[in-house]
Amino acid sequence: MTRYARITGTGSCLPPRRLTNADMAARLAERGIETSDDWIVERTGIRARHFVDEGVNASDLAVEAARHALAAAGITAADVDLIVVATSTPDMVFPSTATIVQHKLGVAGCPAFDVQAVCSGFIYALTVADAMIRAGGVHRALVIGAEVFSRLLDFNDRTTCVLFGDGAGAVVLEASAEPGILATDIHADGKHTDILCVPGHVAGGEVLGSPLLRMDGQAVFKLAVGVLEQTARASLEKAGRKPEDIDWLIPHQANIRIMQGTARKLRLGMDKVIVTVDEHGNTSAASIPLALDHGVRSGRIQAGQTLMLEGVGGGFTWGSVLLDF
Ligand code: ACO
Repeated sequence: MTRYARITGTGSCLPPRRLTNADMAARLAERGIETSDDWIVERTGIRARHFVDEGVNASDLAVEAARHALAAAGITAADVDLIVVATSTPDMVFPSTATIVQHKLGVAGCPAFDVQAVCSGFIYALTVADAMIRAGGVHRALVIGAEVFSRLLDFNDRTTCVLFGDGAGAVVLEASAEPGILATDIHADGKHTDILCVPGHVAGGEVLGSPLLRMDGQAVFKLAVGVLEQTARASLEKAGRKPEDIDWLIPHQANIRIMQGTARKLRLGMDKVIVTVDEHGNTSAASIPLALDHGVRSGRIQAGQTLMLEGVGGGFTWGSVLLDF
């Protein structure tokens, strides 16, 4: 009997502090930097984002998202035998955020580790958990994307600080005789490190290099649309499906124009795309599970539908997961 991994519950968490584009414009104006709601909406589709308060970490958002996903699946943390957290904004250099999440959920013993693939992190994490479940050793996994990108933003750089937000999304992935995840496809090309990175690192008790995000937006844009089409087609081919079989495209929520470009290339109408970038901004590894959970809880995503999850991010990394929900 073929063993598959199937999503049985979703959950998410947004910190309560919501900043509109007008709030961001006011904040930047204090530094003598100009931006506007019109510019941000037209170029990105973003209208608002959520930022954590001081003292709130990625693990806090991850735990709340995980609790919602566990409740939706009808299980408890004690039933889980794997925890994977995708994040580029971990609570600490080490240990992993996943082990901190495990402890905050009040359990111990199961393996817990982080995956770092920036905005593709959740796709990578889902791919790893799917492989571990299909291999037979794991029965129920918590797969989480959690980020506090507000901590990495340079509020003197209007080209990047308006784009990102904080949040977390989670799924429970369970072994099943029925699919489930149909195909996964992940890639990386490290030669593009410089177009999107936080170059600093910790050494000898100091941060060496800049600890703030920097990005060549146009280079990212050009790469993103191409690889997102390629990886979606690769997953479809592996599963013997076609673009028209997709009920919902759930792309990484970086920019509405990247999502529109990808949908156009796959000949999918925007009515088949889950869009949350307007309210969440780009939450990196959290964006896909956040969008998935919002699609599920709004009643748009229904059991039995075919979903294409796909992401692209720093590294460069990119990938997709095709699944029957
Ligand atoms: N407000 C007002 N003006 C701005 C702002 C701002 N927030 N940011 C930039 N501008 C100005 C620039 O200074 C420039 O002015 P100039 O012509 O006088 O020099 C002008 O707007 C155009 O700037 P561009 O950088 O050329 O603008 P572009 O149309 O490329 O849009 C953007 C920038 C939105 C970043 C776009 O390149 C983009 O979406 N790239 C994709 C990157 C992305 O989404 N990254 C997310 C992370 S990556 C990931 O998740 C995969």
